Amino acid sequence: MTPKIQTILLSIILLPTISLAMVTIISPGSTLYASNTSQAWSSPNGTFSLGFIPINPPTSPPTFLAAIIYSGGIPIWSAGTIPVDSAAYLQLHPTEGNLRLVNGSGHTVWDSATANLGVSSASLDDYGNLVLTRNGTFPIWASFEHPTDTVVPWQKFSTRHVLRNGLYSFRLLSNGNVNLKWNDSTAYWSRGTLNSSNKTNLTSPTLGLQSTGILSVSDPTLTRGDIMAYSNDYNQPGEIFRFLRLDSDGNLRMYGSDRGSGIQTVRWVAVEDQCRVFGYCGNMGICSYSGKNPICRCPSQNFELVDPEDSRKGCKRKVETKDCAGSLTMLTIEHTLFLTFPPQSIFNVEGSQIYFVGISSCRMSCLISPTCDASTILSDGEGMCYYKTPGFISGYTNPALPSTSYVKVCSPAVPNASPSMRSDGLRMHAWALAMVVVGTILGLIALEGSLWWWCCRSGRKIGGLSAKYALIEYASGAPVEFSYRELRRLTKERLGGQEVDVEQVMRAIQVSFWCIQEQPSQRPRMGKVVHMLEGITEIHRPPPPKALNALLLQP
Ligand SMILES: *[C@@H]1O[C@H](CO)[C@@H](O)[C@H](O)[C@H]1NC(C)=O
Ligand SMILES: *[C@@H]1O[C@H](CO)[C@@H](O)[C@H](O)[C@H]1NC(C)=O
Ligand SMILES: *[C@@H]1O[C@H](CO)[C@@H](O)[C@H](O)[C@H]1NC(C)=O
Ligand SMILES: *[C@@H]1O[C@H](CO)[C@@H](O)[C@H](O)[C@H]1NC(C)=O
Ligand SMILES: *[C@@H]1O[C@H](CO)[C@@H](O)[C@H](O)[C@H]1NC(C)=O
Ligand SMILES: *[C@@H]1O[C@H](CO)[C@@H](O)[C@H](O)[C@H]1NC(C)=O
Ligand SMILES: *[C@@H]1O[C@H](CO)[C@@H](O)[C@H](O)[C@H]1NC(C)=O
Ligand SMILES: *[C@@H]1O[C@H](CO)[C@@H](O)[C@H](O)[C@H]1NC(C)=O
Repeated sequence: MTPKIQTILLSIILLPTISLAMVTIISPGSTLYASNTSQAWSSPNGTFSLGFIPINPPTSPPTFLAAIIYSGGIPIWSAGTIPVDSAAYLQLHPTEGNLRLVNGSGHTVWDSATANLGVSSASLDDYGNLVLTRNGTFPIWASFEHPTDTVVPWQKFSTRHVLRNGLYSFRLLSNGNVNLKWNDSTAYWSRGTLNSSNKTNLTSPTLGLQSTGILSVSDPTLTRGDIMAYSNDYNQPGEIFRFLRLDSDGNLRMYGSDRGSGIQTVRWVAVEDQCRVFGYCGNMGICSYSGKNPICRCPSQNFELVDPEDSRKGCKRKVETKDCAGSLTMLTIEHTLFLTFPPQSIFNVEGSQIYFVGISSCRMSCLISPTCDASTILSDGEGMCYYKTPGFISGYTNPALPSTSYVKVCSPAVPNASPSMRSDGLRMHAWALAMVVVGTILGLIALEGSLWWWCCRSGRKIGGLSAKYALIEYASGAPVEFSYRELRRLTKERLGGQEVDVEQVMRAIQVSFWCIQEQPSQRPRMGKVVHMLEGITEIHRPPPPKALNALLLQP
């Protein structure tokens, strides 16, 4: 794209912002130093500022990023992604007009690439946009046009933009769909709100986050924006700053933050099951959950962590398969899936016409094939066996997964210790085990005793109520109505007392709203319901009834 076209585009995109907002003018030669983090270029009403922030968690010696920060300390853009030392500085070049970040040894580590384009000043507005302008009016470069990992309200994210974090990227496609990719190749999440059977290409789709917390795609060919996601606090009153960020764990999240608090709360997440983010545990790493948190382990004791300090860096074989040609075997890992996203080769024994492959042939055909490193049989009724050539393999293990996976290793295959022995690193000593057994037995006796006592003591009362309703209930199948007092008595005052886990109740209620969605496709699957009830996946706010949609969508 030539500079001239870029200028025109920018004027169209930025004009509303510029004409509405006051800006802080930064003149050529202005410099910020990493050694003084209290120095910053602030937007007129102080909502955003550009300055150096220390890397979090802190490093030794300290390192910094030059970033645009929302009030309270939340970065929304940074000059490059490589941290710099405390002798670094950010400067609007006095004569050439490029903004550049120079590290302590004098290397330019980031540059706006606007040298000699006539930039005469820089400005930061109250929406968080840093703009380099010629003659004070023509935008040459804008941070909204060069996003790093975040999208904020008022920022138009189009098909030529990309969010990146490590190997992960997020894009808007020309058909209005969005996707998340690993290493620019494996699309592990995508969403299309527009009817995909409609083959018409959109003209210039843009993704926008409304300050109310609605993420939508708009296009000149569409009469109204198409909603992609709601933050679970959308439309809530108050000065809440909402933003969309591609995090380092490869997940895309919408956050909310109260002005000045510096606290960010997740309001929506793209991949609800973090273990389904491709490559989260690195090559050959297997993701699983410890409580609500994803953890990374190696497939078996034939493997070791690449970096013992960071389990997300993946695993490697202790002995490479090429070094034990004669004694190869297949390690079997139950309830484990190697993440497979289309297009992927599907291997089956007798040519491409046969779509059923048994467990044993999925294992055997990989063992004898020199180009197969691992295989996964989904066991989801389709009989597909996915065949992995040497390369990047990303695994997920969960007792609820029916899949079985196989990995080629040097004999013998040494499985990991069983899950019960490693639960949270707790080593149970024999006496502790005995205590638990005795405790459980005593507990059961106590429970039976109290049940017996409860039945005999309250039997008559329950009986009385039941007698009153049993006949109607059995005869008509109609719902039976109880008064609050009756319920309180029946539940032994539990409704009135404080022993209810309010969070659990709220979760159950929110899940129930999802289960009664009008569109069957919007109702969650049973596995997801369980995840939601357990608190592993975030529960999003259910969509409002159709009639409300039109009202909530601003132009
Ligand atoms: C750091 O920056 C602040 C604000 O510009 C200034 O008041 C202060 O003197 C600077 N401190 C040093 C040590 O330069
Ligand atoms: C500055 O950047 C260069 C090139 O990336 C690097 O080799 C050098 O070590 C950096 N210096 C400091 C002090 O970080
Ligand atoms: C800036 O504006 C002046 C007067 O409007 C014009 O003469 C000059 O060429 C402009 N400079 C650039 C770099 O466009
Ligand atoms: C700052 O300006 C922005 C844009 O005009 C506005 O949305 C925001 O409410 C203002 N904040 C304060 C504290 O004035
Ligand atoms: C990412 O892709 C490039 C080529 O597109 C490849 O060379 C590189 O090895 C890949 N990275 C990983 C970690 O697999
Ligand atoms: C997409 O459009 C086709 C044809 O108009 C319609 O039959 C289909 O139900 C639509 N699908 C969805 C998900 O709206
Ligand atoms: C396809 O999209 C165009 C433009 O948005 C619309 O006019 C047309 O009705 C759509 N067709 C179907 C079958 O949905
Ligand atoms: C839509 O755009 C893609 C990519 O530019 C192009 O390959 C495809 O032919 C277009 N489809 C239609 C129906 O115009």
